[in-house]
Amino acid sequence: MRLSLRLAAALSCSVLAFAAVPAAQAESLPERVIVNLTETPATSLAFNWRAEAGGGEGFIEYAPLTPGPAYPQTAVRIAAKRTAAAFTTRDQEQVSADYYSVQLTGLTPNTQYVYRVGREGAWSAWRQVRTAAAEARPFTFLYVGDVQNDIRSMGGLAVRRALRQTPDAAFMLFAGDLINRADNDGEWGQWFDMDPHRLAETPSLMTPGNHEYMKPEGAEAQQLAPQWRLQFNLPDNGPSEWLSETVYRVDYQGVRVISLDADMMDEDPQSARDQLAWLEGQLTDNPARWTVILMHYPLYSTARGRDGAELRAVLQPVLDRHHVDLVLAGHDHTYGRGRPHDQGPVYMVSNVGPKQYPLGDIDWPVRKGSGIQVFQQIEATPDRLTVRAFTMDGLLYDAFQLDKTGQGAARLTDLKPATPELILRREDR
Ligand SMILES: [Fe+2]
Repeated sequence: MRLSLRLAAALSCSVLAFAAVPAAQAESLPERVIVNLTETPATSLAFNWRAEAGGGEGFIEYAPLTPGPAYPQTAVRIAAKRTAAAFTTRDQEQVSADYYSVQLTGLTPNTQYVYRVGREGAWSAWRQVRTAAAEARPFTFLYVGDVQNDIRSMGGLAVRRALRQTPDAAFMLFAGDLINRADNDGEWGQWFDMDPHRLAETPSLMTPGNHEYMKPEGAEAQQLAPQWRLQFNLPDNGPSEWLSETVYRVDYQGVRVISLDADMMDEDPQSARDQLAWLEGQLTDNPARWTVILMHYPLYSTARGRDGAELRAVLQPVLDRHHVDLVLAGHDHTYGRGRPHDQGPVYMVSNVGPKQYPLGDIDWPVRKGSGIQVFQQIEATPDRLTVRAFTMDGLLYDAFQLDKTGQGAARLTDLKPATPELILRREDR
């Protein structure tokens, strides 16, 4: 009896050491928490979240991950930049929220950190995230195409599949059309809801698609969804302020990833010139052996009735001349992979969401598919890129590797499985 009383006292003491759990008030807690890569991913990471309007200052607390629960005691607190936003979407939603962004700098390379965001009384859960190594070193990242429709449910299932099957993904690339109606805030809520913990723990980069752009009534030009720069904290090293967080570059352990704003390239001649001039610079002065371009529109289309002729005319000579290795696109709601020119990049079109188009009459891909949801694991080592595409049931659908020991064009080895091509969508739906 005495023993159990003592035990009960000890237990209640240890419980008292933790803060009481307040009544549930979900809207006051940070939401839409995301970690993005920076231009120096070995020593810095970028974070973004939002909270109920009028909550005041927001903070991030971070510390190196410890073997046990010591990290809250060693955590360092930094104030975030707060942007109070209030706007009405085209679908008549009233968006009123405080958006917070902060960058952690001076981090140690190749190190596990924990962090939480919010403020006193309204903290997120502690999340874990890792910095890149300072040098070229093997790692794997994910690339997915358009999520766009039925985001929380069917899109989310496929994205979660990709993350589950790649638990060690260093980061994740989204090739645009993350959502369907640019400024629809419910859709953005669904996007973050696909996998809130993993989106807060796996750094990501996203490039905008045409569905992140809109032309509000009376506007003369396409406008990026207001949420894009509010809710992401993407690198700001592109050609102009106008293209900030849509055109940028990240070097990660020997791989240079470049995001181009395909919609603006298509819509606006000045933007196209700015992006091209900037791209030349990024490809000329490039310390990385591997170069990957992420852009929404494909240079080589896969969907019926589509062609990327104009983009091809402008971009392909530049990509060939600089031996770009991979061009990752979305937009066509089909799958295709091929290398139309021996010395040029391998082009991929992919689609992770449920919307499906029929394939065009095309001969450039060596592997193609329709009516399938696909995600790609890209394994990078200093001398080799191995790309594997999986269907949503987790089966290998396509694979190849690129080998390179110098700075020239890579040698391609086809590794596609002997399984039949899946052409499951023959008509528009
Ligand atoms: Fe698109």
